[in-house]
Amino acid sequence: MSIITKAAAIGGGVIGGGWIARLALNGVDVAVFDPHPEAKRKVDEVMNNARRAYKRMATKGLPKEGKVTFAKSIAEAVKDAELIQESVPERLDVKLKTLAEVEAAAPRDALIGSSTSGFKATDMAVGMKHPDRFLVAHPFNPVYLLPINEIVPGEKTSKAAIARAKEVYASIGMKPVVIMKEIDAFVGNRLLEAAWREALWLVKDGICTVEELDDIMRYGFGLRWAQMGMFQTYRIAGGEAGMRHFMAQFGPALAWPWTKLMDVPEFNEELVDLIATQSDDQSGQWSIRELERIRDDNLVGIMEALAKAEKGKGWGAGELHSSYVKQLGKAAKGKKAAKASEKKARPARAMPEPKPAAKAVVTKSAKGKAAKADKPAKAKKKG
Ligand SMILES: NC(=O)c1ccc[n+]([C@@H]2O[C@H](COP(=O)([O-])OP(=O)(O)OC[C@H]3O[C@@H](n4cnc5c(N)ncnc54)[C@H](O)[C@@H]3O)[C@@H](O)[C@H]2O)c1
Repeated sequence: MSIITKAAAIGGGVIGGGWIARLALNGVDVAVFDPHPEAKRKVDEVMNNARRAYKRMATKGLPKEGKVTFAKSIAEAVKDAELIQESVPERLDVKLKTLAEVEAAAPRDALIGSSTSGFKATDMAVGMKHPDRFLVAHPFNPVYLLPINEIVPGEKTSKAAIARAKEVYASIGMKPVVIMKEIDAFVGNRLLEAAWREALWLVKDGICTVEELDDIMRYGFGLRWAQMGMFQTYRIAGGEAGMRHFMAQFGPALAWPWTKLMDVPEFNEELVDLIATQSDDQSGQWSIRELERIRDDNLVGIMEALAKAEKGKGWGAGELHSSYVKQLGKAAKGKKAAKASEKKARPARAMPEPKPAAKAVVTKSAKGKAAKADKPAKAKKKG
């Protein structure tokens, strides 16, 4: 169950919206600040998709949903928050300005996490008075379903804040992994960037289309990655001799022309056109919201399958998925118990006086139907 009850989301776009959904579905009240005129509509749409996914996933029930409110300023949003999650656009100047405003109004003991995809906490905290409670908390999209959260402390982040972050994010069903050495783009995005650059080369050079590349991933190693990652997968690929044999066999490939990673394709309109046109051909028949729902169903399905592995003990993300579903169910029981005791405490209300029925014109057939409906149903003969 969530160990916090109030949070603030600064920025309610793709990632901010995902945070709002995860927090609210765990029973946390979220105050949002996003200056975009359509921010509420966008957050509502993400919330709807998230509710849909949780309805399917949370087989043991859900806690009472937290309240999502929209504040007029950062100060209003953060004033009594225990967790403040910054998800504004990926520009250092915008992050610095936002964090200064957050600090000016946030309670001293609030934890501040940044969703940045690549900036270091140390560089974002330069103007902060209390950088001890600030760190990077980098999620992946969709935040309400994918559990990983890369916690990357800055030079001035306190040990207490790291420990608190681990507790808070775990209590909303996440898997916090602390990256102790600060590095741009952390771990996940370093890997993704390498694959992304190579993918752009392969399409730009006409070796494959975006669709062929995606098929090679999703019909192949993508399925392995979801459950074993890179190193566990390669250990098996080494056969009985395991990792050492794998390294001996494929180590020399590092020196072969198997990568163009040191060389970046020129980012220009021609490249954007090529990729975007092929992507439209591949997926243009679905809206983004439809694709999100397809993705969510697939993610829940994969996690459910992983939850059944190892005789029901669960494997990888599936093990966490099982305990998250149980945790949500426990919180749902708490919600029911609270409702019941509230009912008991309330004085019994007298039945409302029936209103005088308005004179209605009753047709012959309606009379007949009403008469039939009034008759008690005949008990079916057994046997
Ligand atoms: N999109 C991803 O897959 C992804 C994944 C992980 C992390 N991130 C990181 O999350 C952050 C947000 O990215 P996104 O993809 O949600 O971007 P986005 O463009 O979808 O959303 C950004 C939101 O911030 C709002 N905003 C702009 N200025 C603001 C301000 N001063 N105060 C409050 N809100 C403001 C915008 O109106 C917009 O709604 C970035 O740092 C990004 O690197 C993105």
